[in-house]
Amino acid sequence: MTRTSTPHRAALVTGATSGIGEAFARALSTGTDVLLTGRDGAALERLAAELVAPGRRVETVAADLATDAGLDAVAARAEAFGVDLLIANAGVGPFGDFLQASEASLRATVSVNVMAPVVLSRRLLPGMIRRAEAGRRRAGLVIVSSNAAFVPVPRLAAYAASKAFDLSLAEALSAELAAEPVDVLALCPTATRTKFAARSGFGGGNLPGAEDPADVAAAALRALGRVRTLVRGPLSGLLLSGPAFARAAVAQTLALVLPRR
Ligand SMILES: NC(=O)c1ccc[n+]([C@@H]2O[C@H](COP(=O)([O-])OP(=O)(O)OC[C@H]3O[C@@H](n4cnc5c(N)ncnc54)[C@H](OP(=O)(O)O)[C@@H]3O)[C@@H](O)[C@H]2O)c1
Repeated sequence: MTRTSTPHRAALVTGATSGIGEAFARALSTGTDVLLTGRDGAALERLAAELVAPGRRVETVAADLATDAGLDAVAARAEAFGVDLLIANAGVGPFGDFLQASEASLRATVSVNVMAPVVLSRRLLPGMIRRAEAGRRRAGLVIVSSNAAFVPVPRLAAYAASKAFDLSLAEALSAELAAEPVDVLALCPTATRTKFAARSGFGGGNLPGAEDPADVAAAALRALGRVRTLVRGPLSGLLLSGPAFARAAVAQTLALVLPRR
């Protein structure tokens, strides 16, 4: 794979109001302009004020990625911002019995975790690739999946399925776009110390040994352009890196044998 050697010019970070997304925003090079999005406009403004630096554009767009209007707003702003790095990180995962879950929460899980990365990737990748070609640089796409992508998880059924979708999407795009100037990374965090567990209603909060989101974001930015899938967590890394490698090899083979349309 080709290593992304220069900082990207402009990044869109979804889910930037907390956790791993906020950590991504903080971990980006100050040479990278950044467009932050999430629903909490006040949190976005606070983070933007911290990240702004002379000559650096830091902008925010408050939007609900579970809605078409939110997706339209974010995609339009990102295109106008000239992004060449998309970090599709926003995610929700309500914990509980499937038969007790509200249809609204299941719809939100699929909209934010599945539909948003698909639509943002489809709308933004053409411009990202065009700008990368024009500048003789490489664009980047990080899709935040999860360790949960590799196994079905009862009481997180829709969430784990959505993360399996994210993993497959990133792996397939990485293979399909191999000849384009864009690096694609599927990031599969293990338990990470964010608001996620509390928001999910997962009793007990963060699991013992949960990772620092800053470490996860920094490792992902280092991995972009070096590997296609980054599995976090010592045990998961050991158990899942083999399957991840095999999946990537199959995807690359299929990209070669399946006709272009
Ligand atoms: N923490 C973990 O243990 C863990 C493990 C594996 C994978 N992940 C993945 O990591 C990603 C980030 O999660 P996190 O752990 O950092 O959790 P988090 O602290 O709860 O952050 C989730 C982010 O997603 C945004 N978001 C949620 N619903 C949204 C919506 N409808 N529209 C727009 N933005 C929305 C939130 O912003 P607003 O609330 O401001 O909208 C927030 O910025 C997720 O994709 C998650 O699946 C997390």
